[in-house]
Amino acid sequence: MQIISGINQIREILEGERSRGRSIGFVPTMGFFHHGHMSLMKKAKEENHVALVSIFVNPTQFGQGEDLDKYPRDLERDAEIAEQLGIDYLFTPQAAEIYPPGYQSYVDVEELSRGLCGEARPGHFKGVATVVLKLLNIVVPDKAYFGLKDYQQYRVIEKMVTDLNLQVEIEGLPTVRDDDGLAASSRNSYLTYDEREQAQVLYQSLIKAKENFEKGTIKAADIVAMMREIIDKRPLVQLEYIQIIDKTTLKSVEAMKQNSTLIALATKVGKTRLIDNLEL
Ligand code: PAJ
Repeated sequence: MQIISGINQIREILEGERSRGRSIGFVPTMGFFHHGHMSLMKKAKEENHVALVSIFVNPTQFGQGEDLDKYPRDLERDAEIAEQLGIDYLFTPQAAEIYPPGYQSYVDVEELSRGLCGEARPGHFKGVATVVLKLLNIVVPDKAYFGLKDYQQYRVIEKMVTDLNLQVEIEGLPTVRDDDGLAASSRNSYLTYDEREQAQVLYQSLIKAKENFEKGTIKAADIVAMMREIIDKRPLVQLEYIQIIDKTTLKSVEAMKQNSTLIALATKVGKTRLIDNLEL
């Protein structure tokens, strides 16, 4: 595996790969790898001749007072994991090269970025869409892989790719969970023992919601009330939102439907913001 930071250098290498007819699979990340990242990397490796992973903790997607400075990093461990998974290139650009002085161009996927996590994190998806567009322009992959754990992010990127006529196939892969049901996340490393235990309630409440739906409850407000009650029993978990939405528009629905409804929630567990979702 080669580790490369320079934009021109990675471009040159990938041009060589493409000229030899090799397909490129790309996994953009912010590093501190867990099993969620690893499932994307495995898929990229399986489906393409060349697998490339980027690690870039993107400053423009962090709001003021968010965790940019303390976001967990461990390049050495990440490189070992990527190498073991057969990744060909690890791209680690520098912020000064991605956003040089005077930088002023941004992408805003207007509607899909506004509700849900966009509400508590204004500008977040603008930062995400911008950096992903830049990375896609640098790497020019055949396929790029994203996790459905960050469902709104996945939809924003998919929309940007369609709206801006990018020639890349976007794949969304299922949420990988730890044994206790908690969705794998780099931010789980912030949790104390007690917080981690109480954070299990996120997935537990989603499972309960799905069970109730399968037993015949279809009114979204009833499901939200039931979930709220379960979560409120965990004092370390502060609810930011529970929303029952249409998978395509991301707009709230009143009645839930098999295959088209998603239950999404965001919480603060102690100081750590955790999100999760479940499709019906
Ligand atoms: P990061 O949080 O490092 O996540 C990188 C990719 O891994 C994203 O596509 C995310 O959805 C996916 N992922 C995270 N946890 C997952 C899990 N438990 N199961 C499956 N996939 C999971 O998301 C970002 O970085 C950034 O916003 C980025 C897209 C790189 C832009 O900066």
